Amino acid sequence: AAPTRYEAENATIAQGAVESNHAGFSGTGFVNGENIAGPYVEWTVNAPSAGTATLAFRYANGTTANRPSDISVNGTLVADDRAFEPTGGWPTWVTSTLTAPLVAGENKIRATASAVGGNPNWDYLDV
Ligand code: GCU
Repeated sequence: AAPTRYEAENATIAQGAVESNHAGFSGTGFVNGENIAGPYVEWTVNAPSAGTATLAFRYANGTTANRPSDISVNGTLVADDRAFEPTGGWPTWVTSTLTAPLVAGENKIRATASAVGGNPNWDYLDV
């Protein structure tokens, strides 16, 4: 089935803000987290059935350094220090995909900055 798009600006945001000053985002903006370890965005995703799903994170990282993030599903870490490498500029958005098990119904997918640089800017999660 075609993925469903979950905009970051509609997710639960801890230690971050919705901004729109870099072009190319989907929806009404993107999430800029604080530049520390710990800020997160948590998407509530609905899965029609239990099983392995593809998670596609669209992000921008305009720095020259990786912005690693811990990806968890319903509180379980599924990708430790997942790399979100530089994209070439803040208006340059790329999609990074991984697979993870989901339960049927509601799932909480959280991306927590795991290093002092913070998360990249998040545009959306497609599932
Ligand atoms: C810049 C940029 C922000 C970004 C931030 C960062 O300030 O304009 O969009 O979030 O750098 O380093 O995280």
